[in-house]
Amino acid sequence: MIIFCKNNIEQTLHNWIAEHNYQSYVIICDENTHHYCLKKLGSIAEKAMVISIQAGEQYKNIETCQTIWHTMTSHNLDRKALCINLGGGVIGDMGGFCAATYKRGIDFIQIPTTLLSQVDASVGGKLGIDFEGFKNQIGVFREPNAVLIDTIFLQTLSEKEKRSGFAEIIKHCLINDKKMWEKISKIDFENQNMDFLVNHSVSIKSKIVEQDPHEKNIRKLLNFGHTIGHAIESFFLDTKNSFLHGEAVAWGMVAESWIAQKMGHLTELELEEITQFIKQNYFKVHFSPEMIENIVKLTLQDKKNEQGKHKFTLLKSIGEGIFDIEVNSSEISDALSYLNAII
Ligand SMILES: NC(=O)c1ccc[n+]([C@@H]2O[C@H](COP(=O)([O-])OP(=O)(O)OC[C@H]3O[C@@H](n4cnc5c(N)ncnc54)[C@H](O)[C@@H]3O)[C@@H](O)[C@H]2O)c1
Ligand SMILES: [Zn+2]
Repeated sequence: MIIFCKNNIEQTLHNWIAEHNYQSYVIICDENTHHYCLKKLGSIAEKAMVISIQAGEQYKNIETCQTIWHTMTSHNLDRKALCINLGGGVIGDMGGFCAATYKRGIDFIQIPTTLLSQVDASVGGKLGIDFEGFKNQIGVFREPNAVLIDTIFLQTLSEKEKRSGFAEIIKHCLINDKKMWEKISKIDFENQNMDFLVNHSVSIKSKIVEQDPHEKNIRKLLNFGHTIGHAIESFFLDTKNSFLHGEAVAWGMVAESWIAQKMGHLTELELEEITQFIKQNYFKVHFSPEMIENIVKLTLQDKKNEQGKHKFTLLKSIGEGIFDIEVNSSEISDALSYLNAII
């Protein structure tokens, strides 16, 4: 169940808990959402047991889960308790995973506080943690009991984080809604109507996930921009040019659009439109030939590959994605060179 709170998160949460008659609850947050978001939950936050962890992807691991399970156990949290995950995708994925496994699973709700988690991570039931250098290596599929979305949380989020989340909004339009693409691509990032767009993205993602919860077919559409995007993100991890997830996905979408155009799907004009919009809204670094080689190698590690072959989600046209398209290494390399040519 997804509930849009319209700047009324405290009352919405209060009502939801009262209706479901929970005796005890725990809130999982990170240091930033503890500081900026917890107080917006009002009296619920005062009464709850709060587990606050360090912020960042590097803490989305088994050690942090152990801390969470340990705290739950030492407070005798029983199977009837509710777990409230207050944070971005890291807290949603990891808090959800801890709740889904504690005593074989307790109820949990997601309160996403970043744009990325509101339009993407909190929807679709994928939970998990990173392991031995692999992202989301350990996890489960499980739907939360509710997702409470309130864009009021975005007021304290940095512009860089918001732009990163906006890339997933762009992706949802490109794979599924040409009309909405036409609208957003004419407006600067600062002037977008985020309330409306969060709602729009959630409805597209929910509709797709409902048809294919375990990503056997149509859910793969959501991976558009992500094969090359993830490789760019991984390559620059921990460097001075490090890209946030959405920033890398934005360029991944341009590179993958180039491949789609070369294959005869997208028109040149469509490719140009996508390129220009991303160029206006996202920073980009120049890739040396050596970097390109390494980024291509990283795409081989993509989870969507089958038997060593690159399987991509591409665009047939703006507003219509296609998946399981085989792409070879030299096409990926040329697509990355295209990114160099346009800046
Ligand atoms: N489950 C899924 O389907 C799915 C989909 C996409 C991404 N993800 C996962 O989501 C994670 C990325 O999520 P993210 O981008 O939200 O990152 P994040 O959770 O690390 O949040 C980004 C930063 O913003 C801070 N923050 C959060 N809310 C804030 C607020 N309201 N005000 C100020 N600061 C705030 C956080 O403390 C953190 O420093 C990754 O681990 C990724 O794997 C999961
Ligand atoms: Zn993504």
